[in-house]
Amino acid sequence: MKQSVEKGKTLLVDGPACIKLCSGAMRAFGAQIKIGEHIIVRVGKRIPFEATEDSQIEMLLGNSASFLLIDEDPIPQSWKEAVSTMLSSNKGAETIMVLGGIDSGKTSFCNYLANTALSLGRSVSLIDGDLGQSDVGPPGTVGLSIIKKPIVDPFNLKPDHVIFIGVTSPYTAVKSIIESLVDLKAKAIDLGSNFVIINTDGWVEGAGAVEYKLNLIRMVKPDFIVAIQGNSELKPIIGSLSGLEEVLIIDVPKNIKKRDRETRKIIRESSYKKYLKDGKIRSYPLSWITVDGNLELKGRNDQFLKKRLEEIVGNKIIYCENMGSQIILVLKRESTLSDEENAKLNAEFKKPIRILREGDERGLLVSLEDNEGRFLGIGTICSVDYDRSVLKVYTNVNGPASRVHVGRIRLDEKGNEVEVIARSQ
Ligand SMILES: Nc1ncnc2c1ncn2[C@@H]1O[C@H](COP(=O)(O)OP(=O)(O)O)[C@@H](O)[C@H]1O
Ligand SMILES: [Mg+2]
Repeated sequence: MKQSVEKGKTLLVDGPACIKLCSGAMRAFGAQIKIGEHIIVRVGKRIPFEATEDSQIEMLLGNSASFLLIDEDPIPQSWKEAVSTMLSSNKGAETIMVLGGIDSGKTSFCNYLANTALSLGRSVSLIDGDLGQSDVGPPGTVGLSIIKKPIVDPFNLKPDHVIFIGVTSPYTAVKSIIESLVDLKAKAIDLGSNFVIINTDGWVEGAGAVEYKLNLIRMVKPDFIVAIQGNSELKPIIGSLSGLEEVLIIDVPKNIKKRDRETRKIIRESSYKKYLKDGKIRSYPLSWITVDGNLELKGRNDQFLKKRLEEIVGNKIIYCENMGSQIILVLKRESTLSDEENAKLNAEFKKPIRILREGDERGLLVSLEDNEGRFLGIGTICSVDYDRSVLKVYTNVNGPASRVHVGRIRLDEKGNEVEVIARSQ
């Protein structure tokens, strides 16, 4: 359908939808829309298109999509002031960390800031520290993208670096997230950025969140902290800062679109699917690769150990391996150990025994990395062939991989999220 938007008005489009600007001039989060360009508004997302001239657009609305014409500027005054403060600072190179609760506008503010900085000739990079609702890289990772052109939806950005964490919530992964964001900031500066924007996850309330965010700030050392504050949820963090960084408090936009849990899951799933697209099942001999993270295997089935274990638990064992710090014991599908067997195992072996079952590995999200630790892509485990010591992974990574880092997110064959395993099994 065609729609006119008068100069000064804003069209809020809720996806799934596709928009084409036919005539006039419009922008979204500070990015100028080109005439004839197709812009996808993804499901669960809202994009405000501001008409800076009388404009004509063509809209294709999917199921559950909608639009609304409003007579206001979608960018809050406080956003404009904060952006102008940061861009007129003369430190030369700035790092900005954006904090805010869930659905507070973090991603949108990062877009707006990146677009404005880019238009002023800054070398901008965007680091995405939000594992669950990630913008750069697939869910369960943190990513870095050097911004070369204005962003309407950062989903379309090609990541320059990705670090796999393997979970969708930060609670159990704070140390790796902090280390990874410090690493990505250094990489961004190495690659020539002088304006580094770091987005974070929406976990800001409660003692754990406050401690995590304060540690993150202490380690990453941003010059500016942008706090998107709806009520007073960021006060405990802001109130405990050391004063080294300048804090800019900005508003949550009035027309923000909140997403429920299910929609957030659907958004994550579309991202897994994008990064698994055109995948094939590939086999990696365990002796050629390092398998670590939530599943550690060296592929050295220990026949001597197996005999000792079988004396205690009988004929239930498929595979076992002595890893040094622990014993990996893989049982046949459906097999269990009695309390008595467990007690005997613990008495006999003086180190932790990790008990797995054949098939437990199925669907686990992994990252594949090269021999320098560079992320090549994600995959999901199809199976471990314990007889042949081969790991089968569904992935679109073509070349050789040196490491398979196993996460705790389990997907089904279609790329839908089944569960996130709470702790190592
Ligand atoms: N100023 C605005 N006007 C209309 N919609 C907005 C505005 N800012 C953000 N949104 C939309 O609201 C939703 C949530 O914002 P987002 O930036 O993704 O929040 P967060 O990253 O904090 O979860 C997104 O669909 C986004 O496009
Ligand atoms: Mg976001």
